[in-house]
Amino acid sequence: MEPYRSVYESKRILVTGGAGAIGSHLVNEISRCGAGVVYVLDDLSSSQLWNVPSLPNVVFIQGSILDEVKLKRVFVEKPQYVFHLAAFFANQNSVDYPEHDFMTNGLGTLRLLQYSQLAKVERFVFASSGSSFYGVDAPMPLKEEYVSLRLNTPYQITKMLGELYCNYFYKHYGLPVVKTRFFNSYGPGEAPGQYRNVIPNFMYWALKARALSITGTGEETRDFTFVGDLIDGILRAGYYGDAIGEEFNLASGVETRIIDLAQMINNITGNSSGVTFVSQRAWDTKNRRLASTDKARKILGYEPRTKVADGLVATLQWFRRHWEFIEKFASFAPGASAAVPIKTNGSAPGQDIARIPAAA
Ligand SMILES: NC(=O)c1ccc[n+]([C@@H]2O[C@H](COP(=O)([O-])OP(=O)(O)OC[C@H]3O[C@@H](n4cnc5c(N)ncnc54)[C@H](O)[C@@H]3O)[C@@H](O)[C@H]2O)c1
Repeated sequence: MEPYRSVYESKRILVTGGAGAIGSHLVNEISRCGAGVVYVLDDLSSSQLWNVPSLPNVVFIQGSILDEVKLKRVFVEKPQYVFHLAAFFANQNSVDYPEHDFMTNGLGTLRLLQYSQLAKVERFVFASSGSSFYGVDAPMPLKEEYVSLRLNTPYQITKMLGELYCNYFYKHYGLPVVKTRFFNSYGPGEAPGQYRNVIPNFMYWALKARALSITGTGEETRDFTFVGDLIDGILRAGYYGDAIGEEFNLASGVETRIIDLAQMINNITGNSSGVTFVSQRAWDTKNRRLASTDKARKILGYEPRTKVADGLVATLQWFRRHWEFIEKFASFAPGASAAVPIKTNGSAPGQDIARIPAAA
């Protein structure tokens, strides 16, 4: 086994958000590396228990990272490594529920860092976001230093806040932190839903023979990263000494147009309903996204291998195997920002207010 994998052998490891799309794969891989125990702390707010790997060295604790009773329960086990992936996900969700976003991604991350520092963990790896704080005008490919303070969503703000807290704990307490910035992860394990990513949602609608709804013109690009490649990068971030205090893009380094993605998904699923176009969301102003992976290659030896076409086939196989669960749990209920017509029972707007008795 390579050193960046064998380092986890016999260790006590905490993965927050370990029931999620990415976290569940991470738990699986760390377990396979021969970890002593992998503790999973997850409140299942955006995932299902069936996604948590059922393995002898995996212990699942259902609870929030904001719940200090649960944090004490986990940290009394003295985890040596912490992978902090729990988050309120993602942009549109945070636009709809900014305070919830702030609590989980802001205060929750601060609490994790505090407990990790007290427990003197050997490594704290933070799941940050590559789509979050690169400026609209930043040149491609996006390098780690092209950050902007002009952010578009609460999620982008709180992911940046998480990185800033990591920097503080590293400088002030010497906590060995590494910040990993993910770019559009996809693959088996991510169920579709109102606030989920484009690939699981396209896959879901394609399997239901519906037209795929593209927000924008379809010319927009994203850097889609297969979850297996991402996990390999995260494991490396937990090992290399030169990574401490640094931030790394974990991406594929390949740009894919959304229209091409939609056509690939329609092809492999046999969906003949085509695509439709709706206007872009107000916060979604970055038309191109392509990451530089130079730094991760140089310091972590990170080498993403999966082509989008192959990753999509693996994702489709997972969808077919788990279709019963996916159908049961997929929710596309409108969020807080959706326009809901107000019923006035025939009265003109404002008339209801006039009927409220005046205060004495
Ligand atoms: N998926 C992507 O493309 C992507 C891109 C950039 C960054 N990230 C980051 O990677 C991490 C994992 O993302 P994912 O795609 O697996 O998302 P996910 O929603 O599938 O996983 C997040 C997990 O955190 C859990 N969670 C949420 N709030 C919690 C709380 N208060 N306490 C405990 N658990 C809580 C959820 O139940 C879920 O299982 C997140 O931090 C996310 O911000 C993801």
